[in-house]
Amino acid sequence: MSSMAGKQVVLGVTGGIAAYKSAELLRLLVRDGAHVQVVLTRAAAQFVGPRTYQALSGRRVAMETDAVSVEPGGMDHIALAHWADVVLVAPATADFMARLAHGLAGDLLSSLCLALEKPLALAPAMNRAMWEHPATRANLALLRERGAAVFGPEDGAQACGDQGPGRMLEVAELRRCLESLFHTGVLRSVPVLVSAGPTREALDPVRYLGNYSSGRMGYAVAGAALEAGAQVTLISGPVSLETPAGARCVSVRSAAEMRDAVLAVAPVHRIFFSVAAVSDYRCDTPAPRKIRKEEHEVLQLRLIRNPDILAEVSGIPEAPFTVGFAAETEGLLEHARAKLLAKGLDLIVANPVGGAEYGFGRRHGDLTLLWEGGSLVLGRDRKELMARRLVREVARRYLERETADAAPAH
Ligand code: CTP
Repeated sequence: MSSMAGKQVVLGVTGGIAAYKSAELLRLLVRDGAHVQVVLTRAAAQFVGPRTYQALSGRRVAMETDAVSVEPGGMDHIALAHWADVVLVAPATADFMARLAHGLAGDLLSSLCLALEKPLALAPAMNRAMWEHPATRANLALLRERGAAVFGPEDGAQACGDQGPGRMLEVAELRRCLESLFHTGVLRSVPVLVSAGPTREALDPVRYLGNYSSGRMGYAVAGAALEAGAQVTLISGPVSLETPAGARCVSVRSAAEMRDAVLAVAPVHRIFFSVAAVSDYRCDTPAPRKIRKEEHEVLQLRLIRNPDILAEVSGIPEAPFTVGFAAETEGLLEHARAKLLAKGLDLIVANPVGGAEYGFGRRHGDLTLLWEGGSLVLGRDRKELMARRLVREVARRYLERETADAAPAH
């Protein structure tokens, strides 16, 4: 899975000949699983028309000050700025950058950039003399100073026949640059272990006891840890999700298999996110053959307790920083705090489940962090965004603990 999967990207296109490459960039981002909303300026539509982008993105293209519906309720420049995880303007003309540098907001793309509180990236493309002009240099310096990421341009033959800097970066390179914006590096090289998904407990060779976990939250946590630069091992129950690119994935089925896989590697990891919905019980003696209904009018199963994987990990010598998840249908914070103490965890993530909107199988998460002596509401949002916030908080607490442990005792 690419780290762009699930990201909400506004792809702004302004009027330059390199616009033809932005259609290919769009195709790559969509293939990576990103949700891309294209916003065209009037000049851009003279180069490549909205139909091309619409066909490739599967969304109505936004132009000028038209509102467009990417969410129920419609989208204007403010709603688009809220929706986007990132805005990439490719190609960005000299004129567009000049307007942006001076805070002009006369069209949809520049007004949404002005309303944006997320990362903004520009892929300039223009004639080399325009690129080297002091006005362009000054505008660019201003935009960089305000936090815009500038990708390229590169040197080479130009559409006008000139040779020099001003060509838009190749699309594969732009895609790499865009991905790197999400790479915070706060957990660079830290080995992080994540368990995810449901477990299945066999009743007979063809049936099992399971639960509704989709694995989405665990995979989002693994993805966010990768973005933070961690070395990620993902131990996953059966899910239909792609492994995040760069993670080492071990597939398991039952709680017992998950326990063995987790305990085998836990001592060499520094943080453990136990996101898996581990079955608390397993069938005492699974039938060796398929259970036949003619043989049982009433079928009785005897279930026995599974070991608590998370509690075992927190009990090993020099245990990793342990993060548990408490998925609760009621008494959320009380149950979560009780689990934090009972399992000896560094932190627990309280997560309401069972409602129509949040929890198992849903795209949104609603998380509160609890630790000994404190708590923090992380809020509600898409699981990918919640996972990023969670990893940032855990990284901060983990690094604080490491620093405290390394400090000489007085
Ligand atoms: N967990 C685990 N091993 C188990 C059960 C749970 O490692 N056998 C972990 C989960 O991955 C999660 C945390 O413990 O991080 C809490 O899981 P949850 O199912 O909410 O709690 P339980 O301890 O199983 O308690 P209960 O089901 O009674 O609420």
